[in-house]
Amino acid sequence: MEPMNSLDSIAILDFGSQYAQLIARRVREAHVYCELFPWDAPGEQVFAINPKGFILSGGPASVYAPGAPQIPNYVLHSGLPILGICYGMQALTHALGGIVSASGEREYGPAEVEVLQPNALLPADTLKVWMSHGDRIESLPAGFVTLARSQNSPIAAMGDLNRGYFGVQFHPEVHHTPRGGEILRNFVLTTCAVHPTWTPESIITTRIERIRQQVGGKMVLSAVSGGVDSTVATALVHRAVGDQLVAIFVDTGLLRQGERNRVQAALGKNLGVELVVVDAGGQFMQALSGVTDPEHKRAVIGELFIRIFEEYARQLGDPEFLVQGTIYPDVVESSAPDRNKAERIKTHHNVGGLPETMQFKLVEPLRYLFKDEVRQVGESLGLPRELVWRQPFPGPGLAVRCLGEITPERLERLRLADAILTETLEAAGLLHLQAGSGGFSGTSQAFAVLLPVQSVGVMGDSRTYQEVVAIRAVTTDDFMTADWARLPYELLASISNRIVNEVPGVNRVVYDITSKPPATIEWE
Ligand code: XMP
Repeated sequence: MEPMNSLDSIAILDFGSQYAQLIARRVREAHVYCELFPWDAPGEQVFAINPKGFILSGGPASVYAPGAPQIPNYVLHSGLPILGICYGMQALTHALGGIVSASGEREYGPAEVEVLQPNALLPADTLKVWMSHGDRIESLPAGFVTLARSQNSPIAAMGDLNRGYFGVQFHPEVHHTPRGGEILRNFVLTTCAVHPTWTPESIITTRIERIRQQVGGKMVLSAVSGGVDSTVATALVHRAVGDQLVAIFVDTGLLRQGERNRVQAALGKNLGVELVVVDAGGQFMQALSGVTDPEHKRAVIGELFIRIFEEYARQLGDPEFLVQGTIYPDVVESSAPDRNKAERIKTHHNVGGLPETMQFKLVEPLRYLFKDEVRQVGESLGLPRELVWRQPFPGPGLAVRCLGEITPERLERLRLADAILTETLEAAGLLHLQAGSGGFSGTSQAFAVLLPVQSVGVMGDSRTYQEVVAIRAVTTDDFMTADWARLPYELLASISNRIVNEVPGVNRVVYDITSKPPATIEWE
């Protein structure tokens, strides 16, 4: 894959840390471009991004263990500054002739470090930090001094100020090290002297240039799902090549209330993208008739989507290029084999994804961006805030929230209930993700689910026997784990009242109070 840009950058070598992506995000927040590489990546690949310094991540190994990852020679011979974090610090010590003691005893959790001498890296005399290590530094390599100590780590930070080499035993990248962002910023901006040029505007400019070079005068096709990534990718490609882009939006009939209009307005009216809307609700309904098994639903939807997409691609003269909204975490995850062994819980068929049998050259303008950067680029391109900050919506749409058989009548019931929930949360300011210092406030994802269960109720003087709506609302940073949102009782009461009064065929509302794990966020 082509390197992202010719800007100055930072290379992060990953020694197997669960926090490696966080290091990259903190560096990007300092408006400095960086990329993550496996610790044994070839030097040519790493130097292709024009690094002005190296960050070595933590990792689970012990430097003296047989086969333990070591710092590549090209890093040590580069003459560039190095910051080693946890294992990275130990590997640096080991490589430069210091001694690491294999204590085997773990120090895990919050700690306070005392800074022993002023230096370019550490921003205060005392710092609250997060420790997570077994081994520690016993004696420093030549040229190094101790910069900070903690109760359990006599050498909590070290530096060779002449060479611009630093090591920290704690994790500056995690949220529990409140001034960790400053530490990383000091390293990249002061020690490595990188200019902070990585801004949404510069991302847009460099990406547009790259897209134009790649595509030339050829036609480009994009499948828009209404999700943030495909929308921003499409808007960016449109900014680059204008009318050479055709975007297809398949209305599967499984969308939420008003969704089709929102996407049409955002891309068509606001940005002038030529959006072909395919009205395929009837086809999807027919294909899903009698299907109740969750995985079967996903398979049916995925296949039909691809068929429709192929048909339209042919009608549009088989464009050579296809836009994909792949983002950086997808790239990093799929290049880290050990992290990819997770068992498949659900098939996350991304409707709008690549039809495997089709021969397209891919245009992936977001390939090097984190989700928050994608949102910033979206805003800078002029996409409406509510679209850029919207909550995720699964590719198979309402099909996986309409449990049991999908009929037009049940879908409409679900759509109405979901619209009431959304409206109420929106009015309470709890719907959209809000960036804040500690992550996000509000709900990360909230939706209604229609259950294939009837229960008895009483309305006026009559007995009812109708369906149940479940409300699912969660808070999460990464959607891998989640907790149920502690919505105020009064709010839940008003959602429940409105649903039972306004949605025909529903006489009971329940609130899902299960975290993930053991449950998943969606019900199917
Ligand atoms: P689960 O239900 O696995 O969901 O806890 C985690 C996140 O993924 C979304 N999700 C999907 N997204 N296609 C998608 O594009 C799918 O089939 C799909 N299933 C779940 C879900 O909404 C949540 O944000």
